[in-house]
Amino acid sequence: MKDLRERELNPFKILHHCDRLQRLARGQDVVPVTVEIDPVAYCNHACGWCVDPIHEPVKMAWSTFERLTDELAGFRIAGRGVEGIVFKGGGEPSLHPEFLAMVRCSSDLGLAVGIVTNGSRLQGCSATLADHAAYVRVSIDGPTPDSHRRIHNSNDFDQILQGVSDLVSARENRRHPVIGLSFAMDIHSLDLAGAAIALGERLAVDYVLLRPPFFEEVGRAPTMSPAEAERVRQDLTRTAIAYQGALEVLVGNWVGDAEQGVEQALAPSGRRDTRVERSLPIEHRTGRCLASPLLAVVTADGTLYGCCNLRALPDWAMGRLDYAAGVGFAQLWRSKRRREVLARMHRTACIRHCTHPLARYNELIEVLRDSDRPHSQFV
Ligand SMILES: C[S@@+](CC[C@H](N)C(=O)[O-])C[C@H]1O[C@@H](n2cnc3c(N)ncnc32)[C@H](O)[C@@H]1O
Ligand code: SF4
Repeated sequence: MKDLRERELNPFKILHHCDRLQRLARGQDVVPVTVEIDPVAYCNHACGWCVDPIHEPVKMAWSTFERLTDELAGFRIAGRGVEGIVFKGGGEPSLHPEFLAMVRCSSDLGLAVGIVTNGSRLQGCSATLADHAAYVRVSIDGPTPDSHRRIHNSNDFDQILQGVSDLVSARENRRHPVIGLSFAMDIHSLDLAGAAIALGERLAVDYVLLRPPFFEEVGRAPTMSPAEAERVRQDLTRTAIAYQGALEVLVGNWVGDAEQGVEQALAPSGRRDTRVERSLPIEHRTGRCLASPLLAVVTADGTLYGCCNLRALPDWAMGRLDYAAGVGFAQLWRSKRRREVLARMHRTACIRHCTHPLARYNELIEVLRDSDRPHSQFV
């Protein structure tokens, strides 16, 4: 797909939601654009650096899922509603026995569906995903059987590749789902970046994403030093720039706080001292994060969180769905508990867990907050 970067992957697509950004800048609430729903809280792989803080044998009841998506499809604030559902977290979403029904149900309600999966159950899912998903990203990480086994601690590399291949065939010549492979690569797998791209070409996917893994923010022991992390990012970037083929090769541009060299400068709130480094993510510089209501996360047990990085951390839970007792998503969204958690998120009390997924939107909201509009007369 030649124009993927200009369309689906264009960071300025947030402009379609500029009214929500304006509301956030004015201190008003919005309905999330995207809701991540975790079908399960468990996984059949065991990646050493998995971002999930906990895996446990919990799955979302179908009745909860049905009530939730039905409610999300109709939930409005200021005329705007939820537009997309992402199945990615809590563990491996495709392990839910009703995963494909969840995909179909969301799409039938008019919600766009994104899926992030380890690919282990793709075989047999390809027709449904080809018809109902807007994107499918497969986390391969190790592009060879050995490296995949080492990182995922699983033995299903060939089945995963077959599943991706089936999905690409089932899509035929349609634009969606956009299909990508992602590779979290550390210093020990860096020399496989070329193999990762070659695998993407062989499977004829649309893009390959190369990125260094997160460690401290997701509570994992680093597998490399900050200097090595910087080298990994530079090498991945060089590899992507040197690539001349048809595939989109993307490099994750997130820089870990350890790599920023400011881990010693934590203020008592957990926030970095703004004097330390001028290029820090905006949340460190302003001590504010106002963008989080653009996204919501509902975990497999029905608990609402305000950011993907806070999922399953009890201090950050905004309440739990209980449709039998009349507690739905809208009640939780408008609850006192959410306002209390959101106030802490606004002042970045959660920043030690942050990988800055919404930083670029905070940049925009900060501009919109400045009612003096300094130098807005110049373009
Ligand atoms: C936690 S997984 C859940 C979905 C699914 N099980 C999978 O692996 O794709 C969500 C995404 O986070 C990525 N991921 C896991 N641990 C990571 C880390 N420490 N740093 C960066 N990405 C990570 C995975 O590769 C995947 O793309
Ligand atoms: S496959 Fe995904 S959820 Fe499972 S352990 Fe790996 S990163 Fe975590």
